[in-house]
Amino acid sequence: MKDMFKLDGKIAIVTGGAGGIGKALALGLGIHGATVVVSSRNQGAIDAVAAEITQESGNEAMAVSCDVTSEDSMKDLIDRVKEKYGRIDILVNAMGMNIKHDAFEYPISDWEKLFDVNVKGSMIACKAAGRVMREQNYGSIINLSSVRGIRGYTGGNSGYCATKGAVELITKALALEWAPLGIPVNAIGPALVITPGTRHIAEDPELAKKYASAVPMGRIGLPEDMVGACVYLASEASGFVSGQTLYVDGGLTAQ
Ligand SMILES: NC(=O)c1ccc[n+]([C@@H]2O[C@H](COP(=O)([O-])OP(=O)(O)OC[C@H]3O[C@@H](n4cnc5c(N)ncnc54)[C@H](OP(=O)(O)O)[C@@H]3O)[C@@H](O)[C@H]2O)c1
Repeated sequence: MKDMFKLDGKIAIVTGGAGGIGKALALGLGIHGATVVVSSRNQGAIDAVAAEITQESGNEAMAVSCDVTSEDSMKDLIDRVKEKYGRIDILVNAMGMNIKHDAFEYPISDWEKLFDVNVKGSMIACKAAGRVMREQNYGSIINLSSVRGIRGYTGGNSGYCATKGAVELITKALALEWAPLGIPVNAIGPALVITPGTRHIAEDPELAKKYASAVPMGRIGLPEDMVGACVYLASEASGFVSGQTLYVDGGLTAQ
């Protein structure tokens, strides 16, 4: 019972692992005992995160570049992890992007780019890692949704909201298909989190106040706030939980 959150000996892949949230999750999984494979398109960035995980946790970490929109690139990542470790226990899909446009002017080429990464990329990664987990009869998948997956938002976010709504339903549909195989599929749904892409909000006192006051707990989220949910969903502590999104949002979606 006391070891139910331990990830010792588990092999975890974190896509988007050098991003604001992905890096915190990759480090958190490593500190809780997992061997982490950090992935994104930028080899230099993932090498740096892998080195930091090893330094902070004492656990081995590996960096393998991958473009989640390409099945060939994903196959290469999965093959390399299988070759090195023989298994994949945890997949965290922390990659993602946003492209904001007024809905009347939304270029469909940008809409497609957004769906390519957030929706197609999530499915490609789930499908590839899920096949390995099917062979093992074991594994756990965690997608990154958003409060914007269940709450609309202004400010040019129609495309982003649509992709995150899709991530919510990919999570539920795969959870149902794969429940008999012992593969839980869940998601984390953050509200605004301060990352390099959103730092300008934290640095502007007026904007920071506006965003913080919309959150019942009165502050903006930090990447570290997401770690507990990820460790829980990756570990045996959540063994009977599937198809759920855990909103780590300071109470925002309780409204
Ligand atoms: N920050 C927030 O306020 C917030 C709130 C709710 C939900 N989320 C969600 O949480 C996740 C992480 O967000 P974040 O703020 O940490 O974003 P971020 O800092 O921009 O990181 C995104 C990561 O995705 C990777 N990526 C982008 N396109 C990729 C592709 N085609 N193939 C592989 N990797 C790709 C990027 O690396 P490369 O460019 O090197 O490939 C980067 O590591 C996203 O799904 C986001 O929608 C964020």
